[in-house]
Amino acid sequence: TKSKPLSGKRILITAGPTREAIDPVRYITNHSSGKMGYAIAQVAVDQGADVTLISGPTQLTPPRGLNFIPVTSTREMYDAVMDNLEVDVVIKAAAPSDYKIVNYSEEKIKKTDGQMKMNFEKNPDILKRVGELKTHQVLVGFAAETQNVEAYAKKKLVEKNLDFIVANDVTAKGAGFDVDTNIITIYDKDGSADVYDCMAKSEVAAIILDKVFQKL
Ligand code: PMT
Repeated sequence: TKSKPLSGKRILITAGPTREAIDPVRYITNHSSGKMGYAIAQVAVDQGADVTLISGPTQLTPPRGLNFIPVTSTREMYDAVMDNLEVDVVIKAAAPSDYKIVNYSEEKIKKTDGQMKMNFEKNPDILKRVGELKTHQVLVGFAAETQNVEAYAKKKLVEKNLDFIVANDVTAKGAGFDVDTNIITIYDKDGSADVYDCMAKSEVAAIILDKVFQKL
């Protein structure tokens, strides 16, 4: 049988949003559907990799043939990633909430007449921590931006110690959250940039994994 490009390679992928609970009935989240991360996971399995997919809550069915770890909050995603770092490649397509509620209410918060105020505190930056701990792993991040895409993406590339970053302007039509296509630019730590037209998330996944393969 023909050997596949990623045979024997262990790849950790994160996908989807996270949820931060306010009280037993409410939470804050974002528009991530998980489609981008699940597409990468599917192509990685098809290419023979040993895949762990850590996912926030989505409507998607996890691809067959991988180790699936469902999580809810950013803290849970952080813990799951730290427990599964013995891999060759980490790809962070998830959109973890940067903040969580300061005082989670054990009881449903009751309506009052005035305004309601909520305080938030920072969640851990999972990717940044992986960048600090990185030894040999190929580390790939995403940058979801609404403005100054190039500058913000390059800043994250450096600050999070990534090998390359996949930038998407999430306000562009056919890009970003909850659609089947994406429009990306890949910034490499070697200084190169590759600009791509709109394409299916499965094609974006193949491009990312091809670049990972070259770096292994
Ligand atoms: O899920 P879909 O609907 O298919 O949408 C795809 C997507 C828009 C979610 C995806 O393409 C994407 O851009 N994912 C990254 C979303 C994000 O959180 O971007 P960011 O620029 O805020 O974060 C930068 C990087 O740090 C990301 O790799 C992110 O996973 C990571 N991060 C962010 C916050 C945090 N607390 N921990 C992290 O690890």
